[in-house]
Amino acid sequence: MKLPPNSCVLFDSQTILSRILEIAEKVRKSYASCNLGEIEMVWLAEGARPFAGALFKAMNLDIKVRPIKVSSYGKSLESSGDVKVYDSLDDIKAKRVLLVDDILDTGLTAKTVIAKLKSNGVEEVKTCFLLNKAEKNKGCLNPDFECFEIPDKYVFGFGLDIAGEYRDLPDIMVFDY
Ligand code: IMP
Ligand code: MG
Repeated sequence: MKLPPNSCVLFDSQTILSRILEIAEKVRKSYASCNLGEIEMVWLAEGARPFAGALFKAMNLDIKVRPIKVSSYGKSLESSGDVKVYDSLDDIKAKRVLLVDDILDTGLTAKTVIAKLKSNGVEEVKTCFLLNKAEKNKGCLNPDFECFEIPDKYVFGFGLDIAGEYRDLPDIMVFDY
């Protein structure tokens, strides 16, 4: 596959996978005193697919898991500010939700989904992100778990796309770094 110009590897697949193992252990421990039947993992499609898959396997918890389709970027490299949630959250009856996404950018997507879950009666939402553009979204939402903090640069690969492309790259790539 031809890579976009001025792009380079930010985290290679081995680094990503070993960090996911560490975070999965932290998540697992955080639920140690909980009834597993009360917990559901909700991951945001499409971007979080490889992250959620690796995390779920490594957590090794017998909990429900479901994807929810959301979109805010369309074909652009900037959030549209309008988060569309394509799947209903209404039938999520879990008391505790582990919300998993590929990246915390402006925080709008996660905040929108958390608000809907809470208004539907979910008591606890913990968040887990592969990446956090912490400098950009300072203070807007403190993730319970995150694998890597990154600068405010557009990234792609390991599930993250540029207008629908490059999701299948095993590494996380960055422009212009
Ligand atoms: P937020 O609502 O601004 O936090 O953006 C969250 C969503 O935007 C993520 O779930 C990603 O799908 C997408 N996104 C944000 N930043 C990037 C990026 O650098 N590369 C690819 N997708 C991104
Ligand atoms: Mg996404």
